[in-house]
Formats: sequence, structure tokens, C-alpha cells
Amino acid sequence: MTEQGLSVMPRWPLAACYVGDRTVTLLEAEQRRPGAGEVELDVAYTGICGTDLHIVHGAMDARVSLPTVLGHEMSGSIAAVGDGVTGWSVGDHVTVMPLDWCGSCPACRAGHTHVCHNLNFLGIDSPGSMQGRWVVPAGVLVALPPDLPSEVGAMVEPTAVAVHDVRRAALRQGEKAVVVGGGPIGLLVACVARAAGADVLVLELSEQRRALAELLGLKAVDPAGCDIDALVADWTDGAGVTVGFEVSGAVAGLDQAINLLAVRGRLVVVAIHATPPPVNLFRVFWRELTLIGARVYDRSDFEEAIRLLHECAVPAARLITRIEPLSRVAAAFDALESGEAMKILIACGEES
Ligand SMILES: NC(=O)c1ccc[n+]([C@@H]2O[C@H](COP(=O)([O-])OP(=O)(O)OC[C@H]3O[C@@H](n4cnc5c(N)ncnc54)[C@H](O)[C@@H]3O)[C@@H](O)[C@H]2O)c1
Ligand SMILES: [Zn+2]
Ligand SMILES: [Zn+2]
Repeated sequence: MTEQGLSVMPRWPLAACYVGDRTVTLLEAEQRRPGAGEVELDVAYTGICGTDLHIVHGAMDARVSLPTVLGHEMSGSIAAVGDGVTGWSVGDHVTVMPLDWCGSCPACRAGHTHVCHNLNFLGIDSPGSMQGRWVVPAGVLVALPPDLPSEVGAMVEPTAVAVHDVRRAALRQGEKAVVVGGGPIGLLVACVARAAGADVLVLELSEQRRALAELLGLKAVDPAGCDIDALVADWTDGAGVTVGFEVSGAVAGLDQAINLLAVRGRLVVVAIHATPPPVNLFRVFWRELTLIGARVYDRSDFEEAIRLLHECAVPAARLITRIEPLSRVAAAFDALESGEAMKILIACGEES
């Protein structure tokens, strides 16, 4: 990724923008007062995730408008409150659930607002949080405990993804589960599943990522470097695991997850595959498997994520490779691209 040459440094507040052509650059953020029903946030940290990388790769060019301000994993505090906003005050410590739904489509009417047919995902469909100040509808705010470190606050959104995935699995105490793919989301899924009482095994190709999984107290193996079928058969007395989480985004990972499931096992599909993957439906039929899709989260997932982080049941801060200032955002994207880093937070405040 490249950063555009800037003859004059733009002034704070700055925004990290995707401007097309695989380029992330800093632009002066649009400044406006919060309108009715809106709040203005002082952004402390914004995490960079795989979705931001997809945007910068151009994979979502049909969806984003340029330049687009990136970012949807954030923490911060309220700087100003617009007319008609109740229950929130300047200085409140918050994160954002970056979903704004229509309220009238079939999904919304059925109560599944998080998968609204007309969903506005803040940071994709509208400006995101990788900027010093961010104006958002008050309805997306989620309160953070005042003593939760802001770095951890920026990990609430990906942790809420993991909480949603585990909830969709209806995971029960003592179940054996595999998580295929030990990236940030996979490791968070594994930690949340463990907190729910499951016995979890992470399958991950990268040695560096397996080492991080072990630092988090998780069991992790290289599926390419061992006889994984035999290992899981041994672990489960020949039955297979009752739950698999597909978090690799790779066809081989999906195949593996299906093959390792016990009779009546459940596969939770978390990963976004670049192209529709082939699925071993014979195995689904033969073992009476259940396939479960899991997309983003709802408010209860955010609240549970905050509780798990606050109680340190999910040690998400250990996933943060480092924190970089906004001025180094292009280099941070490069580090994630190369696989060198797991999670990088961008410090968006004025003094960063
Ligand atoms: N469902 C949702 O709402 C939601 C939300 C956020 C992210 N996602 C998706 O979840 C997926 C994971 O996100 P991430 O940020 O952790 O991605 P990531 O790319 O950092 O992690 C994927 C990991 O899978 C590993 N992997 C690849 N092939 C494998 C295989 N055959 N066996 C074992 N491991 C393998 C890779 O080494 C990598 O560490 C992505 O597809 C992302 O788009 C979904
Ligand atoms: Zn994300
Ligand atoms: Zn809707």
C-alpha cells in the first residue's frame, strides 16, 4: 500500500482515507457539528481489520464511495451532543456498534436488524472512525466501563463478532470445538468458546499465530504438519467435534472443518470467502450436519463482549501487536498485509 505524497501536511483533525488504487492517505477530516440525534466523538483508537484490507485492495470498490474514511473498531469519548440526544453526556467513554439499519425491510421487521437488507455499515457504507473526530447517530453508541483501558475498548467490536459466533453455535459447557483459522477473529472465537466452557482446538497454518494462540493458553496445531483427522479422532474417542468454526476463509479450511465434525455436528460459517466455496454436501447429508451462518452482532453481543473483556475472560489486549499514530497508517496496513502483525491500533487523538 502506498501513501500519497503530500506537499502540505494536512491539519488535525485528520482522517485515514482509502482513495482508490490500493492507496491509504491522510486527508483533513470534514468537520461538522453533530446534528439532531447525533453525537461527535473524540476517537482514541481505531483497530485495522481484514475488512479494511479488503476495501484497500479494491474488493469493495462497488460499495464504497471515494475518498472513504476507514475504520469501524474503535474506542473514544463524547465530545459534543446534538439536539434531542438523551442519556449521553460529554466525556462519556464509549464504543460504537457500527450498524445503522432501515427498520422497515423484511429482516428488520423480523427482528434481525443486524442483517438488514439496506444495512449502512459505518466505516464501509459511510465514513468510519479512523479520524480524530467522528460524528455518528447516537443510536450506535455503546457505553464502556470507565476503567476499561481504551486500547481494550477498541477490541470490543471484533470480540462481539466472536460472541455472536459462539452464540449462533449454541455452544454448551464441555463440548469439543475446532476453530479453523487463528487470525484475530479465530483467536477471539476460541477465547469466547473457552469462556463458555468448551474444550477448544485451533487449527492454524502460521507458526507465529500458533505461538500467539499458545500464549493465550489455547491449544493450536498445524493442520498441514500433522495427521489432523487422527489427532481429532483420538481427542474425541473417534466421534469428531460437535462444533466447528470456519474462520480461515480458505476452501481447505472449510473442508477440514466439515470433515472433523461428529454426527449432528454444527458448522458455524464466520469467514467471508472471496468466491462461493464448494461445500461437501455429501458429508453434510451423511453425518446430518447443520450449517450455521454468523454475520456481525447485535447489541447483546456487544454487551457480552464488554463483560468478557472487563473480567479479562478474553485477553484481547494480547492480540494487539502495536499502536501506531495516524501518520503511520499506510505502514500499518503494509504490516498487516505481510502477516507480520496480528492487530494494529491507530491512535487517532490530537497528540498522537
Ligand atoms: N462473520 C462476520 O461478521 C465477520 C466479521 C469479521 C471478519 N469476518 C471474516 O472472518 C475471517 C477471519 O478474519 P481474520 O481477521 O481473523 O482473518 P485472517 O485472514 O487474519 O485469519 C485467517 C487465518 O486463517 C489461517 N488459515 C488459512 N487457511 C487455513 C487452513 N487451511 N487451515 C488453518 N488455518 C488456515 C491463516 O493463516 C490466517 O491466520 C475473514 O474471512 C473475515 O473476513 C467475518
Ligand atoms: Zn472489523
Ligand atoms: Zn432493514
